[in-house]
Amino acid sequence: MAGKPRILIVDDKASMRDMLAMALAAKGMEVTQAENGAKALEAAKATRFDAIVSDLKMPRLDGLGLLRALSEKGEPPPFIMITAHGSVKDAVEAMSLGASDFMEKPFELAEFEFKVERAIEEGRAAGAPPPKPSGEEALPGLIGSSPQLIEVADIVKRAARSTVPVLILGESGTGKELVARAVHELSPRKDKAFVAVHAGALAPGVLESELFGHEKGAFTGADSQRKGRFETADGGSLFLDELGEIPQTTQVKLLRVLQDKTFERVGGSQQLRTDVRLVCATNRNLREMVKDGDFREDLFYRVNVVTVTMPPLRERAGDIPRLVAHFLAKEGTSLQVPEPVMARLQAYHWPGNVRELENVIRRCIALSTGDAMRVEDLPPEMLEATRLPPGEDAPQGLVGDLERIERNSLLNALTETGWNVSRSARILGVGRTALQYKMKKYGLSKPA
Ligand SMILES: Nc1ncnc2c1ncn2[C@@H]1O[C@H](COP(=O)(O)OP(=O)(O)OP(=O)(O)O)[C@@H](O)[C@H]1O
Ligand SMILES: [Mg+2]
Repeated sequence: MAGKPRILIVDDKASMRDMLAMALAAKGMEVTQAENGAKALEAAKATRFDAIVSDLKMPRLDGLGLLRALSEKGEPPPFIMITAHGSVKDAVEAMSLGASDFMEKPFELAEFEFKVERAIEEGRAAGAPPPKPSGEEALPGLIGSSPQLIEVADIVKRAARSTVPVLILGESGTGKELVARAVHELSPRKDKAFVAVHAGALAPGVLESELFGHEKGAFTGADSQRKGRFETADGGSLFLDELGEIPQTTQVKLLRVLQDKTFERVGGSQQLRTDVRLVCATNRNLREMVKDGDFREDLFYRVNVVTVTMPPLRERAGDIPRLVAHFLAKEGTSLQVPEPVMARLQAYHWPGNVRELENVIRRCIALSTGDAMRVEDLPPEMLEATRLPPGEDAPQGLVGDLERIERNSLLNALTETGWNVSRSARILGVGRTALQYKMKKYGLSKPA
């Protein structure tokens, strides 16, 4: 990687510039300062910076003016805008002008350093080929190689080597169960049992006997002794799905088996030992449940040693072409996927994630009459151009909203121009490189 990163800090307050400059210099960066946008433009003429951090409000030329002027001259470096607290409108405008990030005052220095480092990396990555162009899957058993999945794969691979519990979070249909299997497959326990229990599907009493087994006569209908899943999974992995559905009484027993590896069968008094690697999943907010007293805090900390959060499909639309091909092959058809169909598939917000995608593919296969998928066979909710997800399942917070707005505007431009990056960049008023980077960030790629 080429030399020391060069950063330009633009702010009319000298004290602020000095503080930020010192923080970055301590990280081994070469920092240039400018006291307003006009001075910054001059500096940018002489030097190619790896990132620019600029305040919004400044005399002579403000942050937005600076960004605009830089964009007119070509590709601006990654640009972080510092905005006043609560000025969402300015932040939105900055992002639409091609800022790569923004920070609201006041902010922590650590956050600032993190964002600058990330901006530098992203700027450099934008010029480099995308990660894993080979099309190799990020995780065994899962289709997809988007940066988001690669990030998940990274955590999974590291966690799999040990026996620490793994908690998998994510919306319905994102592949949590597949990740649980991947944890097992990548672990030294891969030749031992992988046992799955779906807590939500079982009545509380049944769940307990399912997990821990029961002795003969433990309850009406228990005519023989039965081993529980913790026993059959001994030496291997136990996948506890829908962890949030587990009743309090069972939570106590679960805590015990996690703490000292011992348990008793229902109706039994013999202490049994088991060595099980626990993998849990839930689409509920366990922290909220802990706050409301519905989930034991001590158990929460036990199961939540390593957390893996599955990204929703809408945030990794780049995986969609491969998933579509996978599902078509799985159904044994060689239907073609014309570009307008793929564009719709990539633009949709997929509340049901990969499961929903698979269902849509099945539907298209069932309705197809020729050798290609057809737009009119897509479910009606997908035929509206680019729908924003409904409020309640939208990501919370400012950044989520901004990113969604941005992603949709990119997608509109790309679809309009038939995925011509240069023309889309012109429509959007951003540089090519910036657009390419954003496409990568949002998992947008030209349909196969
Ligand atoms: N990356 C992927 N590649 C291939 N198939 C996938 C992928 N992700 C999910 N699927 C498929 O989508 C369906 C849903 O996946 P899975 O059951 O793992 O989701 P989940 O997150 O456990 O959902 P829920 O919260 O509803 O239980 C399954 O049929 C699974 O095989
Ligand atoms: Mg599941």
